[in-house]
Amino acid sequence: MQTLVGEYPTTRLRRTRLTPVIRAMVRETELSVKDFIYPLFAVPGKKIKHEISSMPGVYQLSVDEIVRECADVHALGIPAVIFFGIPEHKDEVGSGAYAEQGIVQQALRAVKKEVPELMLITDVCLCEYTSHGHCGIVRGDEIVNDASVELLTKEALSHAQAGSDMVAPSDMFDGRIGAIRRVLDANGFQNLPIMSYAAKYASGFYGPFREAAESTPKFGDRRSHQMDPANSDEALREVAQDIMEGADIVMVKPALSYLDVLHRVKQQFGMPTAAYNVSGEYSLIKAAASKGWVDGERVMMEVLTSIKRAGADMILTYFAKEAAQVLKK
Ligand code: PBG
Repeated sequence: MQTLVGEYPTTRLRRTRLTPVIRAMVRETELSVKDFIYPLFAVPGKKIKHEISSMPGVYQLSVDEIVRECADVHALGIPAVIFFGIPEHKDEVGSGAYAEQGIVQQALRAVKKEVPELMLITDVCLCEYTSHGHCGIVRGDEIVNDASVELLTKEALSHAQAGSDMVAPSDMFDGRIGAIRRVLDANGFQNLPIMSYAAKYASGFYGPFREAAESTPKFGDRRSHQMDPANSDEALREVAQDIMEGADIVMVKPALSYLDVLHRVKQQFGMPTAAYNVSGEYSLIKAAASKGWVDGERVMMEVLTSIKRAGADMILTYFAKEAAQVLKK
């Protein structure tokens, strides 16, 4: 788009900023509660509501509490949640991820019954379920690709069978979108959409999440599958390949240090595009606000607006409930 602008003083750019009414008339980006997806952490047990110390206002919840929370979320007008699960037992192959009585599977069935209108998305990854904390199977010092993808297809199918409305693979292994698509289709779930964590970076901003999901790797890191923060052309290749393999929605994650990537992805592909406003991005604001260094509500709304302005159609955010309340005012 070519920008034409008149010369001062004929043109005074402040004219459209002088009152709240005219500011609202020319506003280009409008946040809506319909943009939000709220992450939830399911744990075994009953009546458990355990606050994550690094994420004030975010809790590990037992299934009964998840049902209550989902009713609240739905009442606020938030259209969707995404479930993460912390299993009773972890093992080398993450079998809790694809168990019929797995924690996410239980949460799905319970919430489907009580809050049927809420869209239930499930994060598909093994890191919360493996004893070593890696996203797949480990052999020697390698996190192996193809054998891990097979387990991820089992996890996605298991979520679908328990009532997931959309699966969201977050592992960043090669070929998993196509593999999951084939397994879902072969089992009658050809209408179940896939939201791919397509350009997911090896980021320090996941620190608080790993406390919440108890998924910190016991050795090594995730740099052999998650992307190098220095790259953005490569993100376009990742997204392109996931689209070719059948992704319905593509995600960029984290959001704030990657708004340029988000913008490029939206411009290049015009796909429904999600951004994950991750745990560390939440904690930074909460910490600064608690010290009185920033106005927490104001920077929350500024950050969410910037993510939408950059090109996100939807935002996964721990701020969803708070922002929904602000938007209601
Ligand atoms: C992997 C997963 C992670 C997050 C979402 N899915 C952690 C990781 O890759 O280490 C991070 C989300 C956040 O930081 O809020 N299952």
